[in-house]
Amino acid sequence: MAAHQSLRTHTCGELRATHVGERVTLAGWVHRRRDHGHLTFFDLRDRYGITQVVTSADEAPATHEAAAEARNEWVIQVSGAVRRRPEGTANRELPTGEVEVAVDEVSVLNESKVPPFYINEEQPGLEEALRLQYRYLDLRRPPMRDRMLLRARLSSAIRRELEAEDFVEIETPLLIRSTPEGARDFVVPSRLQAGQFYALPQSPQQLKQLLMVAGYDRYYQMAHCMRDEDSRKDRGPEFTQVDIEMSFVREEDVMAAVEAMVTAVTRQVVPERQISQTPFPRLRYEEALARFGSDKPDLRFGMELMELSDALRVVDFRVFADALAAGGAVFAIRAQGCGGYSRKQLDELTDLAKRQGAAGLVHLSVESDGSLRGPAAKFLEASSAAVLAATGAEPGDLLLIVADADRATAATALGQLRLEMGERLGLRDPAVLAYVWVYRFPMFKWDADLNRWDATHNPFSAPVWEEADRMEADPGGIHAQQYDLALNGWELGGGSIRIHRRDLLERAFALMGHTLEGMRDQFGALLDALEYGAPPHGGIAIGVERWVALLANQENIREVTAFPKTQSGSDLMLGAPSPLDQQQLAELHLRVDLGG
Ligand code: AMO
Repeated sequence: MAAHQSLRTHTCGELRATHVGERVTLAGWVHRRRDHGHLTFFDLRDRYGITQVVTSADEAPATHEAAAEARNEWVIQVSGAVRRRPEGTANRELPTGEVEVAVDEVSVLNESKVPPFYINEEQPGLEEALRLQYRYLDLRRPPMRDRMLLRARLSSAIRRELEAEDFVEIETPLLIRSTPEGARDFVVPSRLQAGQFYALPQSPQQLKQLLMVAGYDRYYQMAHCMRDEDSRKDRGPEFTQVDIEMSFVREEDVMAAVEAMVTAVTRQVVPERQISQTPFPRLRYEEALARFGSDKPDLRFGMELMELSDALRVVDFRVFADALAAGGAVFAIRAQGCGGYSRKQLDELTDLAKRQGAAGLVHLSVESDGSLRGPAAKFLEASSAAVLAATGAEPGDLLLIVADADRATAATALGQLRLEMGERLGLRDPAVLAYVWVYRFPMFKWDADLNRWDATHNPFSAPVWEEADRMEADPGGIHAQQYDLALNGWELGGGSIRIHRRDLLERAFALMGHTLEGMRDQFGALLDALEYGAPPHGGIAIGVERWVALLANQENIREVTAFPKTQSGSDLMLGAPSPLDQQQLAELHLRVDLGG
């Protein structure tokens, strides 16, 4: 091991039976101590592991006495001989568990106050705020350490795989001009240029495209990105992307390169996890929505959405009739064996559907005689055979049905119910990794608030080339050469082939409400560059925190970030954000007005 230094000969994770008889020096934190009078056992911990070391009043009385002072989390250095643990006391759980160090020299390198929470055991109900305030102690806890090391192994494997395929890492600046990725910018005032501001990158999107124009045809970067948007469990104000851009490619080239990297990295970093399907399944956006009610479907289980619009077209039930008359749809999922759900459980599901934008939820249980039971059953009697046939539902099953005038709303709400039922039925197997590509997204979506079209991904994405001519005539009907990589129900990454011709980019920007001057002001460099031999290019960015969180089966990306911000954007350890003093403000030509 490479961690030999002057204060230690070995790490706390290193000693084995083969070291018996050697004299060693270890340094680390007191993880736990057990006092047996004439013998004291210490578990000594560092990031590599834990080694048991023992002081003896009989064999080294002065050392024994000196060590007696040491409490949990003190940093100590011990020297002594490695010996086999006595018969029957080996610890099979610990890689170092066959041996211990018989200490004859000890020195206290530093004392520690009693930490505000346990480092050496799980503490149920431990407050996150306390963990974040003392993050350096939280990071000492073995589960956090394991996640940090997993993240480091992931980054390193990504770099290895990409570099083996001729990708070069090029760093781009943090002080830039805004690149729109759909969030607010964090901004930095300029001292040298009064009244001027830099934006921190939401992503290096424009810069990586400019690198393509510059000829660096296979670029990557572990890129730090900042977005001033509300945090969620999979979203923070700053995060890291594996950012990739390639020249002379079509969609399938990018997808193939990324898929090869992702597969190899997954196999190296979490060999115990099963990748559910390779090559990764590819779903068009519309298909993903219709079958799973999501553009980031969790493919670890089936329970696909079924469309009942035809089966129910004839029924005299307003909820369905109105939705269908308005051009909408009726979708159902079948939860096997859930026909006995209680009123309370069904109310919970109804609430969930409503929170997801559905007007309501129709639930039907299939009775042993094949009849349907539920508040809406009487309206559906005439169609019950058609419903059973269309859904394949059997006695004991529960059917959950959502109708809406807007197809996507009905499908999305039911997609969330599908995830909930998958969770309740234990179908989201934590051992499995289900990567899936979703592609062929609509190019634009209508923004009713701003009364203009907006890009569904980013404004640089290219339309499917054959559809480009129809861009102005049918903005809502054309598709982008855009692909997302989803994993277990999360969006892991997204990218596209870009527009590499100025005229086409200007047309797309114009549809999105940009004036010619506005475009030149905001995207001047990129627009100009497209006139100097810009090659066809495209790329993707994968969220590192999301990837690690999913590999570590964590629900929140804060659990895989060394120093995360709270929900409200604070760093509780450093106390950021914080006010500036008058002098600093003056230098930056700023005056703070909290008035309005
Ligand atoms: P996009 O905005 O889809 O694309 O981001 C790509 C991936 O980055 C991760 N991500 C985040 N992770 C944590 N917190 C956030 N606030 C956050 N925002 C995004 C997600 C997401 O899938 N420039 C384009 C990429 C491209 O087109 O090449 C971009 O940034 O995992």
